[in-house]
Amino acid sequence: MTLRYLPDAGKLYGPEFTNDPQAVYARLRERHGAVAPVEIAPGIQAHLVISYQAALDVLTNADGAWSKDSRPWQVRLPDTPGAAAALGMLAHRDNVLFSDGADHARYRRVVIDCYSMIQPHKLRDMVIEVSDSLIRGFAAKGSADLVHEFARPIPLRVFNLLLGRPDSDSAALISALYDMMEADPEAGARGSENYYRYIIELIESKYASRGDDLTSWFIDHPAGLTQQEAIEALVVTLAAGFDPMASLISNTISRMVSDDRYYSSLTNGALSTYDALMEALRAEPAMANYGPYFTTRAVDFHGTWIQPAELVLVSYAAANTEPTHVPDELRSDGGSYLGFGAGAHRCPASDPATLIAMTAIERLTSYLSDLELDVPREELEWRPGPFIRSLATLPVSFTPIRPDQPGESPWSAQSASPSTPSEPTFPASPADYATSAPWSS
Ligand code: HEM
Repeated sequence: MTLRYLPDAGKLYGPEFTNDPQAVYARLRERHGAVAPVEIAPGIQAHLVISYQAALDVLTNADGAWSKDSRPWQVRLPDTPGAAAALGMLAHRDNVLFSDGADHARYRRVVIDCYSMIQPHKLRDMVIEVSDSLIRGFAAKGSADLVHEFARPIPLRVFNLLLGRPDSDSAALISALYDMMEADPEAGARGSENYYRYIIELIESKYASRGDDLTSWFIDHPAGLTQQEAIEALVVTLAAGFDPMASLISNTISRMVSDDRYYSSLTNGALSTYDALMEALRAEPAMANYGPYFTTRAVDFHGTWIQPAELVLVSYAAANTEPTHVPDELRSDGGSYLGFGAGAHRCPASDPATLIAMTAIERLTSYLSDLELDVPREELEWRPGPFIRSLATLPVSFTPIRPDQPGESPWSAQSASPSTPSEPTFPASPADYATSAPWSS
C-alpha cells in the first residue's frame, strides 16, 4: 500500500526515534500540525495523531469515521518484511481491541466484569509476595537490572496467578513471552508456539475443572464466549497487560531515582510514588503510539485528507506532551493525560494496573531506599519499536540487605507493609487471592 502524500514521513523506527522520540514528535508537529505522516516499518505508512484535541476526537469517534477493525487495511498491505513486522501488533483478531459496536461491547463486558472480581486487597497481597520474592533474588548483591530482575517478571508472575496457575508454573509463561519478543525469528516462533501452548493448556484445564480465577470467570461469563473467543480474550489480556505494565513500572522507577523531588521522597516524602506514576503516564506513556484506528470513509481530519481503510495511530506520547497542553507544574493527578487512553477503548484495567505498579514500586523503594542509577538517565537504553516506550535495561546500585541482618527485610516480611511483617506463604496459589463470580454460585 502506498499513500500518495507522504514524501517526508517521520520514521517511528531506527536509532533516532528510539533514542529521542520526543524530538521526532516535535519536528513532526512543527511541520504538519495535528496529524503527521509516518512510517512504522520500512514502507508501511500511517497517520500519527499528535495533538491532544485530535487524539480525543479519534478516541471518542467524534465524527463517526473510525474503526478498530484492521482487516480492510490489512488486505491492502504488501508482502514485505515491514508488513510482517507491522502485522505482529496490528493483525485483526476476534477480541476487544480489534472490534467495534456490539461485538466490542460484549468482549469488553467480559473483561470489565471479570477484572472487577479481583479484590484489590488480595491483588495487593499477591503483588507484595511476587515483589518480595524478586527483591530477595538481588537484594544481597547491591546491584540489579530492574527491567529484567523486577519490572518484567512482576506482571507475568501476577497474571499467571490471576489466570489460575501456581507461581511455580510462571517460568513457562515468562520464557515463552520473552522468546516471543526476541528479534531472532527462530526464538520468536518458538516463543509464540509455547505461548499458545500455555494458553491452550490453561483453558483446557479450566474447562475440565473450574477454579476461582480469571480464566474460569471468562469461560463462565454470561456473555457465553466460545472456547476460541476465551482463548483470544486471554491472549489479549496478557498481551495488552504485560508489556505496558512492565514498562510503566520501569519508566516510573527510572524517573524516581533520577529526580531529587522523588529521590528525597523515598525517605522523607516530597513527591510520592503516585506522583511519579502519573508523571510517567503523562510524559512517557508506555503505550506511546499503540492507539491503532482505521478510517471507515474518507475524512478531512484536522487539515489532513485521509482515505478509507488507512491506519491512523493515536500517539498518546505526543498528544500528552503537546506544548500547549503540558501543565506548568506537576499536579498530583498528572494534569490531564491519555496514558490509559480515552473513549470506548480506554484501558479497562487502569485501576488494577495502577495498583500493581504502585505496590511493586513501594515495596522496592521501602526496602532499598538508596537506589541509584548506574548511568545518567539520558544514557539509559530503550527498546526499539514504534508502539511501546520501554527501557531495555535499568541498572541500579544500592546498599545490600541480607536475610540475617536486623530489621525488616524482604526475607522477614510478607505482609501489607514492611513495618507490619507476617509469616511467609510463598509459593502462592491462585485460590488464595480470588473471589467467587456472582454467576458461578
Ligand atoms: C493489568 C494490566 C493491563 C491489562 C489487563 C490491560 C488490558 C487492556 C485491554 C484489554 C485493552 C483494550 C480495551 C478495548 O479495546 O476496549 C486496553 C487498552 C489500553 N490500555 Fe491497557 N491493560 C493493562 C495495563 C495497561 C497499562 C499499564 C497501560 C499504560 C501504561 C495501558 C494502556 C492502555 C491504553 C492506552 C489502551 C487503549 C488502546 C487503544 O486506544 O486502542 N494498559 N488495555
